[in-house]
Amino acid sequence: MNYLKNILPVWGVFLLFLTISTGNALAFSFLPPPDEKTGAPNEGTCADCHAGNTLNASGGSLMLTIPETYEPNEVYTIIIDLSRAGQSKWGFEMTALDANGARAGSFTADDAANTQLTETNNKQYIQHTTAGTATGTNDAHSWEFQWTAPDADIGPITFYAAGNAANGDFGPTGDYVYTTQGESTPPVPVVAGVSLEIVGDTALSTIDAVEGVNYTLKVTNTGNMMDTVSLEASAEAGIGGSVLGSLSERSIELEASASKEVTLTVKGDLLTTPGDYPISVTATSGTDSVMTAEVTITTTIEMPPPPPTPWDVNDDGTVNIQDLVLVANEFGEAGEGLKGDLNGDGTVNIQDLVIVASHFGEDTSN
Ligand code: HEC
Repeated sequence: MNYLKNILPVWGVFLLFLTISTGNALAFSFLPPPDEKTGAPNEGTCADCHAGNTLNASGGSLMLTIPETYEPNEVYTIIIDLSRAGQSKWGFEMTALDANGARAGSFTADDAANTQLTETNNKQYIQHTTAGTATGTNDAHSWEFQWTAPDADIGPITFYAAGNAANGDFGPTGDYVYTTQGESTPPVPVVAGVSLEIVGDTALSTIDAVEGVNYTLKVTNTGNMMDTVSLEASAEAGIGGSVLGSLSERSIELEASASKEVTLTVKGDLLTTPGDYPISVTATSGTDSVMTAEVTITTTIEMPPPPPTPWDVNDDGTVNIQDLVLVANEFGEAGEGLKGDLNGDGTVNIQDLVIVASHFGEDTSN
């Protein structure tokens, strides 16, 4: 017993020496891991001490649940999942940095028993507590905490994390260290836009108001998201009839940057007076009704061509007395569109009667 009494103080001094000389190594029994070990640029990893196994060795994983995009001041739940079969003690560290490596947003350690916050070089870290190492939990462990996005759009933010799937031997050997990172970007603002252009022949015109004429228009979604574009064509009233623009589609779903062609049909009716009819087509974004595009096409409706045999005035296939009578009925009249004005000089006179007479008896049916 005397021997033991004498030797104990010696052991005590030796243990004290060991604690001081190995510095932070022994201190880790009660202290969290050092900061700046997340694998972020210019940082080390937990494997600086927990060496022995390759970093990110196959057979285990570290996964992050982070917001894909962030809104300023919004609070997000972050989850860290660390796994490796056979391991039974767990640790992690995470930081969030902007593209320049500066602190981005703020972590909150709501689960204060298992997570805690630290700061180094103006960067903030969240990491496990002693209880948070979940000693005896086999094969996998996770931590959950909150992160508040910065109060403004500071560009992409990268979350860097390191995890140590340890074996609980109170030493830095036999442990597996994993590192990973994930990016969160500010939301892209929605931009709406539409363009409209005439493709193909722009110089089309129709001589036949009733038959009409087709034009091809190209509608493009110039915005950065899916949009529904509505199309509207105008109508033009003539002296007699009117001219309408109608579209093959009135509403089109378009992905960002996608285009679609539509057909504009411009048509008059039996009473439409010859002339120029400007028809406008307007395309409007369904996302932002202020975003519109417009094109105007002028369609020329021409005078119908004169019949090839104007002397068969009633167009019944033969030139006979009835045709003479029709010319005689308009005799002396002047103006446009007179059926009896066979030579088109603006008046119905003896010359027109002579034309009928000179073709008298002819078969005009072919
Ligand atoms: C400077 C060296 C050093 C660094 C860097 C380090 N550790 Fe450790 N860690 C130790 C030592 C020494 C121990 C053993 C003493 C103890 O259990 O506290 C230890 C123990 C642990 C334990 C308990 C393991 C067991 O088997 O008992 C966990 C978990 C842990 N560290 C996690 C981490 C994580 C996570 C990181 C990186 C973010 C990290 N450590 C970085 C030195 C380090």
